[in-house]
Amino acid sequence: MIGRILGVPAKDNAKFHRWTQAFLSASNFKNPFFLIPTIMSLLGYLKKLIKARRAQPTDDLITALVLARDEGDHLSEDEILAMIFLLLVAGHETTVNLIGSGTFALLEHPNQLARLQAEPVLIKTAIEELLRFTCPVEMATERYAREDITLAGVTIPHGELVMAVLGSANRDAKYFDNPDELDIARERNRHLAFGQGAHYCLGAPLSRLEGQIAIQTLLQRMPNLSLSIPSEQIRWRGGFVLRGIEALPVSF
Ligand code: HEM
Repeated sequence: MIGRILGVPAKDNAKFHRWTQAFLSASNFKNPFFLIPTIMSLLGYLKKLIKARRAQPTDDLITALVLARDEGDHLSEDEILAMIFLLLVAGHETTVNLIGSGTFALLEHPNQLARLQAEPVLIKTAIEELLRFTCPVEMATERYAREDITLAGVTIPHGELVMAVLGSANRDAKYFDNPDELDIARERNRHLAFGQGAHYCLGAPLSRLEGQIAIQTLLQRMPNLSLSIPSEQIRWRGGFVLRGIEALPVSF
């Protein structure tokens, strides 16, 4: 999806996918320096694409970035590259986790799965609930207290680092009825899966749509979908920020 939005030609999809996968998995390697040649290839490829769009604009995001103006000032090539890399990092594994852990949550709650299959119109509230329940971005990026603040009897001094655990907020019994239950028709659901305030997720509408289309299509095409290993054997990836499973073996 992100390749299409950026304007990567379909013939280069496999190559682009290989490079971005390697780049996105950099933090899993003990020695990420191995990835430098791959990252250089990806950078070289993107630079060529930027140059081609400058010469001949088309209807894609790279063209929009090339043409973007702010008080007469164009984005430099480095700024465009930084924006593309931000979108790749922020927009890839997050949505993958929503689809993967969301499907896993449904398979673990057969009554909710059956309800969604019987009432596909619930897909919108179902995706909101899967966002709340699985919380693909478990923790926000770091914040610093601008003043002393007391929360639940604990004073955080001015200037201290604060790590907000969105996954925990999404299970707050003050805001959600039966927070540990999966309810695909939940009405009161002001979850924090996309953050809050100035840094609210730029890709929220896109990933909601991707989640709705992917999960609905999966359930329509594979009505007998089930886990092919016991759920205790599903392995969660390590790390603090992103929350997702390594693989979801299924039968259909
Ligand atoms: C289910 C999928 C996604 C989830 C759960 C998610 C979650 C989040 C969260 C929690 C934040 C705020 C982080 C913070 O406040 O520290 C955020 C920010 C951001 N997200 Fe997403 N995201 C998703 C998909 C995407 C997609 C598809 C894109 C781009 C195509 C994207 C682009 C961004 C960007 C650029 C920011 C930074 C916004 C800023 O700082 O102003 N995200 N996302």
